[in-house]
Amino acid sequence: MGPEIEGRRLAEPVRDAGGSVLLAEGTVLRQVHVDFLARQGVSRVAVHQADPDGMQLVPTLDDLEHRRGVAALAEAFGTCRARRETLLHQALQFGREVLCHAGPQRRPPGRFPFREYTLHHSVEVGLWSRLLAQELGLDEAGVEETTLAGLLHDLGKCRVPSEVLHKDRQLDPEEWQLVRQHPSWGADACRKGGLRGRRILQVILQHHERMDGAGYPLGLKGEEICLGARAVAVADAFSAITSYRDYRGRKLPVQAVEELQREEGHYDPEVLAAFWRLLSPYREGDAVCLADGSRGRVLRPGENPYEPWVETSDGRRMRAAAPFAVVGWAA
Ligand SMILES: [Fe+2]
Ligand SMILES: [Fe+2]
Repeated sequence: MGPEIEGRRLAEPVRDAGGSVLLAEGTVLRQVHVDFLARQGVSRVAVHQADPDGMQLVPTLDDLEHRRGVAALAEAFGTCRARRETLLHQALQFGREVLCHAGPQRRPPGRFPFREYTLHHSVEVGLWSRLLAQELGLDEAGVEETTLAGLLHDLGKCRVPSEVLHKDRQLDPEEWQLVRQHPSWGADACRKGGLRGRRILQVILQHHERMDGAGYPLGLKGEEICLGARAVAVADAFSAITSYRDYRGRKLPVQAVEELQREEGHYDPEVLAAFWRLLSPYREGDAVCLADGSRGRVLRPGENPYEPWVETSDGRRMRAAAPFAVVGWAA
């Protein structure tokens, strides 16, 4: 079994030689499952062939709200490109009306038209930034500022030539130098557009800074980076990893989680923990079925969003990882 089955959904239960179920039908395979099955000597499993969008659901806006957001941002990008930043208020109005009030739905992430990627991505980052700011306990003003900053974080890309922005090969040093300026250009455009709120400009300027100092444009470290920028950085990375790009297919949310975990030095651990809680489909008290056939209740989301802490009906308390992974909700 190769790594290509990671993220695929089991089409039928996996059984051991005695017929006992090792993993239930419907389980979304993760590396831990693959390792577990290898230890059990299982070399073949049946997975659904083409269901990449149905495997993991993440919060997103409904189509109409998403389209309104993209239209508002297209206007903002267009006016900034023409150096007439005064029309930025369209995007800000959208941020206030929709992102700050709409209830997110659980759906697969979208497949965005390639040329409009930045617009769709920005709406998605705005939504995740808002959810993250709420989960981190920011006050109402902080949530609104982080949401708007998430929405506008890549505004400076309107000054990066389109052929550089949409290049499907590695950027040369000069092109890379242009891309690295987009946080400063974005903050600058917002300032010229009359955007009041020092914290929003700071978040836009700092959204590519990394906790270990590996980011840009200033190479800030740790708490030198404002909390809003640390939140938008995680929302930004997650959206990029889970979106389709021409040069690679999108990754599943579960794979994005693991990728962010591997790059933990880049991101604020508290923000990552808040993000895992948001991403977890399980809530305290949910009745769930485990892969070994037992039932239980979720005590709390785990360190990994897909492995909550569970108390089984016979009184065992454990993190629901293979071979006891949660495979569904109980009636
Ligand atoms: Fe960016
Ligand atoms: Fe971005």
